[in-house]
Amino acid sequence: MSYLEEARKQAEALKTKEHVRILALETSCDETAAAVIENGRRILSNVIFSQIDLHELYGGVVPEIASRAHMEACDRVIDEALAKAGMALSDADALAVTCGPGLVGALLTGVNCMKGLAFAAGKPLIPVNHIEGHVSANFLTHSELEPPFLCLVVSGGHSHLVQVLDYGEYRLMGQTVDDAAGEAFDKAARVLGLPYPGGPRIDALAEEGDPHFLRLPHPKLDGRYDVSFSGVKTAFLNAVHGMEQRGEPLPKADLAASFRHAVCSQLAEKTELLLRDQMESGKRPVLALAGGVSANRELRRQMSTLCERLSVPLYMPRLDLCTDNGAMIGSAAYYRLMRGELADLSLNAMPALRFA
Ligand code: KG4
Ligand code: ZN
Repeated sequence: MSYLEEARKQAEALKTKEHVRILALETSCDETAAAVIENGRRILSNVIFSQIDLHELYGGVVPEIASRAHMEACDRVIDEALAKAGMALSDADALAVTCGPGLVGALLTGVNCMKGLAFAAGKPLIPVNHIEGHVSANFLTHSELEPPFLCLVVSGGHSHLVQVLDYGEYRLMGQTVDDAAGEAFDKAARVLGLPYPGGPRIDALAEEGDPHFLRLPHPKLDGRYDVSFSGVKTAFLNAVHGMEQRGEPLPKADLAASFRHAVCSQLAEKTELLLRDQMESGKRPVLALAGGVSANRELRRQMSTLCERLSVPLYMPRLDLCTDNGAMIGSAAYYRLMRGELADLSLNAMPALRFA
């Protein structure tokens, strides 16, 4: 029997198994992360090796350094995830890996590592879309959450408003027409001289600042639920450079607060429009947030206020599950496995893999 035939047979049997444990690996950007997840919902272990120290010097992720660091770390991170779950590789029912989107070299390291392990151990391998992983972080945080719901996915590389119709089924409602929200945060942080990754640092600084210190432009877009951050970013950079040229001291907290406010207000506004449209057409929407930027304090506050005002249930991932981790990949993988979606050994990295 070929590898894939054997894997399909095992996957079929797993559909009725009571406890399905998946070992998942995530290497799409700058975290080497592995986790063991039971039935898509329960975290048995979740190990993250962050490469931030390696990239900080360069002010952003250096793809070659990321690939090499993943190669050096992935065996160790996987061993640790298995050990923390009290398991050997042979106890895992299936393996999962992020196959895209992300940095090609970083993805390839993980994909090849898991293809090797899956073949050697004779286990099914599930390919997972990284963004679907972010959405699934909510399933690990909220045991009662089930599709359908709306999800605002805001990360370093992506900003999407989607309808989650079912597990693994999405309809894209809106997206950024230029920069992703996290990318904009990172660039604004850089101009303030804050180290990479800047999003969390802007967020912390902003807590002490005046959000109305600097007026930033509000984009007018054709797409009803689309967002844009490049105009806000450019206006911010120009304002900061202007102050520097005039020799004025930078009120960093006020600047950070103004930028954060502009980004979060735009996200909240477009989300409100979508929620109201859904309500007007007789639906009772439920909203979830996902991705690194969903850890942002103001975004969480604005979304909580909005959902309270509209009486819409709001789900947000646990803070440590907002940014990249292996657990979210293991959760998404479970639902793909239940649909019989497996990879064969020709699985490749898909750096531009689409989500919806
Ligand atoms: O989801 P993620 O870990 O990686 C991608 O898939 O891109 O997101 C990382 C992004 C970075 O841009 C980081 O600056 C941003 O999320 N981020 C934040 C916060 N925490 C992480 N941005 C704003 N506020 C935060 N608290
Ligand atoms: Zn991510």
